[in-house]
Amino acid sequence: MGAKPTYRMHGGYRMPLGFPPESFSSAVDYCAQPGDIILSTYPKCGTTWVQYIVYLLLHDGTPLSSSQLLGDFVPHLEEIGKHAVEDLSEPRAIKTHFSYAMTPAHPDARYIVVIRNPFDCVVSFYHHTRGFDKHYKFLIGTFDDFFECFLVGKVDFGDYFDHLGPWYRHRNDRNVLLLIFEDMKDDPVAAVTEIAEFLELSGAKDEEFLADVAQRSSFDEMRKGQDRWSSRRPGDMPAFVRKGIVGDWRNYFSPEQAHRLVDKFSASAETWGFTGLWSDIIRAAEQMS
Ligand code: PPS
Repeated sequence: MGAKPTYRMHGGYRMPLGFPPESFSSAVDYCAQPGDIILSTYPKCGTTWVQYIVYLLLHDGTPLSSSQLLGDFVPHLEEIGKHAVEDLSEPRAIKTHFSYAMTPAHPDARYIVVIRNPFDCVVSFYHHTRGFDKHYKFLIGTFDDFFECFLVGKVDFGDYFDHLGPWYRHRNDRNVLLLIFEDMKDDPVAAVTEIAEFLELSGAKDEEFLADVAQRSSFDEMRKGQDRWSSRRPGDMPAFVRKGIVGDWRNYFSPEQAHRLVDKFSASAETWGFTGLWSDIIRAAEQMS
């Protein structure tokens, strides 16, 4: 029997230990407002990157200073609760890992959804879970231990596929922008432009501004500002902005794990209609298994 992370349970829903129960309860009651920018992701799929792009777009491209925290400007709804979110100045930009069904809905709010292939997601999620001991008590956990929890959805914020499937089905809704982490890596300026256009910002046609935002939110730049994105981790743990690459999963997966995740992916893809997503990665995983 392998090690398992510890979570705080809310009616069957797993949350990090450090998230106050009252914040969770009030977060599910938050009424989205017209103009809200709601960034919805499954954990480790590019949230912080897009949080920072949105922050820069809304602040003339001016980077956060070393004493500022991204979460003070684009907070995590489930962590701080609805009252603190209601107090934000407009337009409110909010991060959430809630599933589609739990995400506060309003026809005039905008939803930016970022998805990432589940192979790299689980590797990133493993490092995250081991790195935040105060949230998970999982210092001794191995990748193999975490993989078993991920595969059955017994991790914080629930099953990866329960997040991906419904959001993918809503990807063409008027107020939804769905971004793919791997495409963002290929062309960050295009991603920044898409976000600016979706938010109908005046800078959306200013190529120099958009290129600046892409550069300031690049992996190398964000890697320099670790303390702005997340609280400090023990020194022997990987940084929060860790590798930011596509394909790190190959360094962790056994052939058997690759086979099992491909099976789960294929079943979910058929249900939700995302067959063809990440086809090169799925093919590589099939070849490994
Ligand atoms: S969280 O905790 O859910 O908010 O994590 P999240 O921000 O969604 O995901 C963290 C991963 O995103 C990578 N990252 C980036 N990749 C490319 N470019 C930029 N600018 C960037 N910023 C963050 C980060 O390194 C995590 O991925 P891994 O694979 O662990 O490196």
